[in-house]
Amino acid sequence: MSVLFFKRFLKRPLQIASIVPSSKALVERVADKIDFRHARVIAEYGAGEGVHSREIARRMSADSHLLLFELDPAFARDLQRQFAHDPRVHVIHGDAASLPDELDRCGFDNCDYILSGIPFSILKIDKKRALLQKTYDALAPGGSFIIYQVTNELRQHATLFEHAHSEYFLQNIPPMFITVFQKAVSDGAHAAGAELSRIAVNRHA
Ligand SMILES: C[S@@+](CC[C@H](N)C(=O)[O-])C[C@H]1O[C@@H](n2cnc3c(N)ncnc32)[C@H](O)[C@@H]1O
Repeated sequence: MSVLFFKRFLKRPLQIASIVPSSKALVERVADKIDFRHARVIAEYGAGEGVHSREIARRMSADSHLLLFELDPAFARDLQRQFAHDPRVHVIHGDAASLPDELDRCGFDNCDYILSGIPFSILKIDKKRALLQKTYDALAPGGSFIIYQVTNELRQHATLFEHAHSEYFLQNIPPMFITVFQKAVSDGAHAAGAELSRIAVNRHA
């Protein structure tokens, strides 16, 4: 059991939302959903004490970047310490909603993957929608937003993503839904697909 994690939970139970970090099995399952051959910019919301961050940093290539967002000051300090010697990792002590500003500041156009461990279910509906919109806008075409949550309630709100796939993962306390939301590869491909369907419909009319 991580002592730091438990202490921070006691300090801010709603924000931390768990008394233990993600299990090793959950961390590996989530990392398996990232194609590290093509992941150049990855963001993580709510990195906590860094259990997912360390696995991502271990798997990602030398020219990739990882932006870690963490609201809690003690976790953010600890992440700074852990990644002090890794220039690929940028620790941001702040709200995940500052992602667009941080992308600008680092000179990145967008992210290939965004991973989230923040308790979306307790966010007020306006904040939840605004963060989902920022997340969608910050993703490259074909990019993925990966969440792990006790409930799967975000699926009903994240309708702006063109694809979503969920699994229920039992090897964590508590068990979690892992959902991958994917942005369409490109608006152009979408438009071309829509045009083909329109032609097919007209042919059969
Ligand atoms: C359930 S813990 C997950 C920690 C870690 N990712 C793990 O899997 O063990 C949620 C974390 O999200 C952070 N958090 C909550 N809301 C946030 C927000 N809006 N922006 C950044 N971090 C946030 C909390 O401080 C906490 O560290």
